[in-house]
Amino acid sequence: MKDDAYHDINDLYLSMVSPEEVSAKDIHDPVMSDWIVNTLPDQASILDAGCGMGFHMVALHHGLPAKQSGKRYRVFGADYSESMLSSARANGVRAGIPTEAYRQSAFADLKHIESWSARFDCVLINYAIYSYPDSVLDYDTYFRECLAGISHVLRPGGYLLFNVRDWTSVVAGPKDHDYTNTHDGVAYHCRYTWEFGQDGHHKAHVTMRKCASDLKRETTLRFAERTPKELMALMTGHGYELVSIQAHGTGMLKFDTVIARLRSVQA
Ligand SMILES: C[S@@+](CC[C@H](N)C(=O)[O-])C[C@H]1O[C@@H](n2cnc3c(N)ncnc32)[C@H](O)[C@@H]1O
Repeated sequence: MKDDAYHDINDLYLSMVSPEEVSAKDIHDPVMSDWIVNTLPDQASILDAGCGMGFHMVALHHGLPAKQSGKRYRVFGADYSESMLSSARANGVRAGIPTEAYRQSAFADLKHIESWSARFDCVLINYAIYSYPDSVLDYDTYFRECLAGISHVLRPGGYLLFNVRDWTSVVAGPKDHDYTNTHDGVAYHCRYTWEFGQDGHHKAHVTMRKCASDLKRETTLRFAERTPKELMALMTGHGYELVSIQAHGTGMLKFDTVIARLRSVQA
């Protein structure tokens, strides 16, 4: 994948992930997590699109143990970054998820996977749809193309869950934003330096480091400032109806979670 911002990041992505997420007892978005256990039946099939290192897949495979619902889910994952996907596959295989459950695919290219046609009860996109690759010229066109891929794999009546940043909070926050996450006694550090554009297109220059080692990578992520309602307006024309929009988190880490239902697949 030519403009994969996560290429060669590998385990440095642990700088962005808390030990709780790695322990795979729950997914990181509490709105999604509550909705999944309260709404989806046991054995529902879920695609984690943009699965990253796949910790949420493992949590779902085990039925979100933190929720103690007794349900289990059939999980699948896709990501266009081969380096993220190979970490996800390795983590999944250790947890008993078959390697065939993972596919390297951009959201838009999901439409080419025939064996996944109308396959899933639910598709979730966690922390991945509000950013876009360098080559994209128009975010709304990109979003519609992603949606077409997702609609191909979602069964009619199935649900799409995704989260978007609360841009008012991000733009009002500090331009430099740091996280440190410690895994197995090793600290990983991540620094975001934001560059806010006037036109609602923003960039973050991100440096990830494994502390006490030379391992370091820099990447630039691009973001489109869109509200959930603006995205819902694009989705309505593609056969989706709104179920709910609900906020979670605070400050720079405030997000809105959108839950939508695919009434019918539109050409
Ligand atoms: C911030 S990470 C989130 C990973 C994971 N969902 C999580 O919550 O930990 C974004 C992930 O989405 C993937 N991604 C972004 N845009 C994508 C697209 N258009 N198609 C497929 N994967 C995409 C990236 O490669 C990366 O692994």
